[in-house]
Amino acid sequence: MTNNIVEVNQLAKQYPGREQPAVRDVSFAIQRGEIFGFLGPNGAGKTTTISMLSCLLKPTSGSATIAGFDLARQQTEIKRRIGLVPQDLALYPSLSANDNLMFYGRIYGLSGKQLKQRVDEALQLVGLTDRRHDRVDKYSGGMKRRVNIAAGLLHQPEILFLDEPTVGVDPQSRNFIFDNVEELNRNGVTVLYTTHYMEEAERLCNRVAIIDEGRIVALDTPRALQDELGGGLIVAGLPDDVPDTLAQEMRALPGVRDADRFDHQIKVKAINTQQTLPEVINVFNRLDLNIRSLEILEPNLESVFLELTGKRLRD
Ligand SMILES: Nc1ncnc2c1ncn2[C@@H]1O[C@H](COP(=O)(O)OP(=O)(O)OP(=O)(O)O)[C@@H](O)[C@H]1O
Ligand SMILES: [Mg+2]
Repeated sequence: MTNNIVEVNQLAKQYPGREQPAVRDVSFAIQRGEIFGFLGPNGAGKTTTISMLSCLLKPTSGSATIAGFDLARQQTEIKRRIGLVPQDLALYPSLSANDNLMFYGRIYGLSGKQLKQRVDEALQLVGLTDRRHDRVDKYSGGMKRRVNIAAGLLHQPEILFLDEPTVGVDPQSRNFIFDNVEELNRNGVTVLYTTHYMEEAERLCNRVAIIDEGRIVALDTPRALQDELGGGLIVAGLPDDVPDTLAQEMRALPGVRDADRFDHQIKVKAINTQQTLPEVINVFNRLDLNIRSLEILEPNLESVFLELTGKRLRD
């Protein structure tokens, strides 16, 4: 018995009339209880993938199971178990948060006391109980987002798909959303969290898939992604008369990915700067070189992505 709540095999989507596929043979699994991140720039294929997994869009090829049910054949079972918080808000502006949620709850097949109770709980969770009877068009962007999230929770899904829930959201609401996601997760809800923001992925996610041009280019814990891909840089200022072989010697160290020598400086790219620093210093000692300065540049999360794809996450 597998502990994967989502299993995706070679899933692909080619929109008609488009030259390039939006999603290209993507495979991954999400473990039950995990917060799984989907990180990628505009047009990477995040929403397309989520739409396929939510039964809103038919894959061109490939397969997936959610909670053990087959995406192609068991959509009713799947829809009962997933909650989707779409990227674009879908609320009735002239209705209150309460009435929007009552409306969505009925779509999910809830009614009567149970419906009222679920609406109360969802409003409580997103912190909007005291504003519940205000019209949604009087809400801030962040508050609207929170109503959107509440709507995705009414039927108590096992897994929640959140598609960029913090875009256009004020910092206070953003923190609120983080807390909500963490609390839901503590209560056993698995989360697929889509974002442009490395910081969010790092704070929230157990594992992150980095997606670009419809492909998963890396998948690991945020820490491991940084260590493996971003590494860090050790920069040493050099005296005169440094042997030409210095960069070569640095490259030969086990934790070193690359080394470049400039006039009075050497840049050593390490898998883990803290571990590699003593070895780098050993080389200087062995060659009897007095270094003039030493600087450690920790990996920047943004640089991980840049290094993988040659692109920036945000335009
Ligand atoms: N309905 C559609 N018809 C045709 N092409 C589409 C459609 N929806 C998306 N695309 C294209 O598919 C690609 C992936 O889009 P998608 O919306 O999945 O990306 P995304 O990662 O969610 O981007 P964003 O961060 O901007 O939301 C893009 O090139 C987009 O233009
Ligand atoms: Mg999107």
